[in-house]
Amino acid sequence: MSYVNVSSVRKKYGDKTVLNDISFSIKQGEFITLLGQSGCGKSTLLRAIAGIVDISDGAIIVNDKDITALPSRKREIGMVFQSYALFPNMTVSQNISYGLKMKKIKNTDEVQKMIGSMGLEGLENNYPHELSGGQQQRVALARALILRPKILLLDEPLSALDAKIRKSLQIEIKRIQKEMNITTIFVTHDQKEAMILSDRIYVMNNGIIEQSGTPETIYTRPKNKFVAGFIGSYNIFDNLEMEQNMKEHFEAEASHVAIRPESIQIFEKNAGRGPSDGTYTAEGEVSLKTISGSVISYQIQLNTKTVQVDQLYQGEDNLHEGDEVKLVIPRQACIVLE
Ligand SMILES: Nc1ncnc2c1ncn2[C@@H]1O[C@H](COP(=O)(O)OP(=O)(O)O)[C@@H](O)[C@H]1O
Ligand SMILES: [Mg+2]
Repeated sequence: MSYVNVSSVRKKYGDKTVLNDISFSIKQGEFITLLGQSGCGKSTLLRAIAGIVDISDGAIIVNDKDITALPSRKREIGMVFQSYALFPNMTVSQNISYGLKMKKIKNTDEVQKMIGSMGLEGLENNYPHELSGGQQQRVALARALILRPKILLLDEPLSALDAKIRKSLQIEIKRIQKEMNITTIFVTHDQKEAMILSDRIYVMNNGIIEQSGTPETIYTRPKNKFVAGFIGSYNIFDNLEMEQNMKEHFEAEASHVAIRPESIQIFEKNAGRGPSDGTYTAEGEVSLKTISGSVISYQIQLNTKTVQVDQLYQGEDNLHEGDEVKLVIPRQACIVLE
């Protein structure tokens, strides 16, 4: 049962195809994310759904109704952008109640409730310039949500905020989205953010969708080299590189193999652990070691390739730059790419 149906949507600017035959559907109450690098077409797709840009071809259906030709203001869609875009000469309350006022609905209870659920109590009479970025974005969200839109569209709403506020707002957005059961399309270039928030992720590249799936599927089963390159800092080997660097013969007929940094086991070269069945092994040297909180990342120089190996940081007993090491890679951790 799909609630939003985007069907064969194309968008051209002059000769340039920005959206190339995009199709997907979303269930009611689902949180999906369009994930991709800058310029891949995320905002254009979101704006097409909002009715802010016309599409060259295709259809957008919401709740069985074709809204492709419907003007933006009639689509009942709420949108929040990276730039907060609040009315500078209006207070928090006035900003939030603006949409209701336009529709000639008076509902101070609803405004107060929204202020409460967005954690904006005490700031009702403040002006946007008196608020932090995070607070301004809460107001922008409240302003969109108070109209009970059919779909909530969020275009990189957290990208301008610093890491800590960003994290807390991620959790807030998720909580409110679930509470209101509102169908949401979120746009980001940040894979971690996409993983945390989404029921499903659409990985976009150059106007197409490369892969869609749950965060877990996208993370553990990237389909092709592009997705593997974009997600989870995969090590990517081609056939020849597998032959050159692994001690065992590489059997699969794959163009490329992707191996997650945390799926590689690392030992001192003379630790005595010989290769066992079901694994590939390689030898090399630690060329770089970095610690980011709970994870230690090693860059290991093999015969013809550098790979990343991540380990949980569990105290001092670890390897150092210059150490000779042995890598053991379970065969099932080698993901064959299309
Ligand atoms: N109004 C426009 N006129 C011409 N080209 C545009 C316009 N808007 C966006 N583009 C181009 O479309 C492509 C996708 O842009 P956009 O959807 O903003 O990407 P993203 O949001 O993923 O960064 C880019 O190459 C951009 O330069
Ligand atoms: Mg954009």
